[in-house]
Amino acid sequence: MLKASQILEKYISFFEKRGHKRIANSPLVPQNDPTTLFTSSGMQPLIQYFLGEKHSAGKRLVNVQNCFRAADIEEVGDNRHITFFRMLGNWSLGDYFKKEQLPWFFEFLIDALKLDSKRLYVSVFEGYDSISRDSDSEKIWTEIIKKEGFNPKERIYFYGADKNWWSRSGAPKDMPPGEPGGPDSEVFFDLQAPHDKKFGKNCHPNCQCGRFLEIGNSVFMEYIKKEDGTFGKLPNKNVDFGGGLERLLAAVENQADIFKTSLFSPIIETIEKITSEKYEGFKKEMRIITDHLIASVFIASSGITPSNKDQGYVLRRLIRRSFDNINSIRELENLNIPTQAVVESIISQYKTTDPDLEQNFEKIVNTILEEINKYRFTINKARSFIQKKYPQIGDELKGVKKISSDDAFILYSTHGLSPTQIKSLGYVFDQQEFAKKMGEHQGVSRKGAKKKFAGGLADHGEKTIMGHTATHLLHQALRDVLGDKVFQTGSNITSERIRFDFSYDKKLTNEEILEVDKIVNEKIDKNLSVRFEIMPLKKAKEIGAIGLFDEKYEDKVKVYFINGSAGSPQDAYSVEFCGGPHVEFTGKLKRFKIIKQENIGHGQRRIYAKVGTFL
Ligand code: SER
Repeated sequence: MLKASQILEKYISFFEKRGHKRIANSPLVPQNDPTTLFTSSGMQPLIQYFLGEKHSAGKRLVNVQNCFRAADIEEVGDNRHITFFRMLGNWSLGDYFKKEQLPWFFEFLIDALKLDSKRLYVSVFEGYDSISRDSDSEKIWTEIIKKEGFNPKERIYFYGADKNWWSRSGAPKDMPPGEPGGPDSEVFFDLQAPHDKKFGKNCHPNCQCGRFLEIGNSVFMEYIKKEDGTFGKLPNKNVDFGGGLERLLAAVENQADIFKTSLFSPIIETIEKITSEKYEGFKKEMRIITDHLIASVFIASSGITPSNKDQGYVLRRLIRRSFDNINSIRELENLNIPTQAVVESIISQYKTTDPDLEQNFEKIVNTILEEINKYRFTINKARSFIQKKYPQIGDELKGVKKISSDDAFILYSTHGLSPTQIKSLGYVFDQQEFAKKMGEHQGVSRKGAKKKFAGGLADHGEKTIMGHTATHLLHQALRDVLGDKVFQTGSNITSERIRFDFSYDKKLTNEEILEVDKIVNEKIDKNLSVRFEIMPLKKAKEIGAIGLFDEKYEDKVKVYFINGSAGSPQDAYSVEFCGGPHVEFTGKLKRFKIIKQENIGHGQRRIYAKVGTFL
């Protein structure tokens, strides 16, 4: 039976034989893309080539890409969802299109992987708005399926834009202007598990019952969203194919549970050993531990350490969740040796494709263990807080340990424990009350800032806070000089410098830089007030607050004003969604100076600046 690494080699050589050049696996933590925390698909590092730039390796590319999808964290626990995976990808940048791509992938599945064609089903785009049904793909699949001796009507399924359209931001309506995307065609493997009626009367490839496994997706990337919301054509017709290696392996091994494939089972066995329990009795827990620790190994190996923001926050969640799940199987006194054993078994499964994991072994183990220890410390502190408040609750006391929703909320907001973690400590509280408090808290703290936008602060030191206020002035000054198309896409502020990323596709001239410097310094000299108001998102938009806000949240947001207020927004120099903190008056910043600019690709530039008495 083919192993994961053999499937990978076969795929690469299949496409190399068809004129593709192998390109490198890009870093899991993107170096120059402030808009995203992790690489989550093979095409993500190639975005500019879909938009028309020439790739130095040519028009036909192939690779394997390490990917992490944080959005799937909550899905992990079933037979097929994972957060870290390896994606096989082949790309045509304005070269071949549907009539090559679909038969090639089919040939790869049948000839190279020896899958039984009887087990394969496909899906095709049924059309959306002005974009018509993909009848070219339908014709190509009809021919292939007929040749195999099956009825195309029973094998080809049509779905709309929610299933058979791919862009980085999902369905066509969710794509921002400038985003490329296109209809796609997926191939599914029939695991022949009985249909579960809970998921609908009839089973079909996109049914969630677990019978069908999606094993490859060919995206026909030829559209771009325009400013007016309609679709235009990209300079080229491109192909973006992605197939999860773990799922292809499950199909080859005919294994409905991907955690039972040869890639994951040695890791599961190690977890069985350290907990002295069997997978069959603790499937969900062991799946979560396996997935989360694999992801943690790769993220820690990239040099990330657990923290309360960005990638560090994701890593913290993954490690803490693994720990909770180990604990719910068996409370282990000492985790040093068990952690090493699991990390070793993970590395031995991945070292052929990722040899640096072995070199980073110690760093990885230490990162995970340090976080587990911190977490244990937090839990102990939380326990003693509760014990002081409720002396009648002894640890030895069995039964209900009821605490008030206020105290549960303190465990959440001050001690950093999630409601699930609080419950797993054995505490019971009024969940509705708690949810209400959490809603109020989130409404205020959500800042309207999307994804990685948590203020961009490295710490809350005085110099960093000054830098933070300076980014608001810089943001507005850039818009004054370069126009309203400029908007912030990211920031990172330390006590040493400000780093500010924004949308703009040209190098700034010296005059423009001097002008921005001058405006910011004028605002500093005027010693303007900096204050915030909490208001409904709708109102914030009405008064023209800038910054990224998440459309999903209709509740309250925090808006910072430099000069002016919600009542007199016309007096304000800057009105921006933000969680703070900020200085109270701009005079505190003393001086501001841009020290460097860079092109970071994707129509974005990066500015480094200094603030304070350094000059
Ligand atoms: N971009 C597509 C996906 O991630 C195909 O590579 O599924």
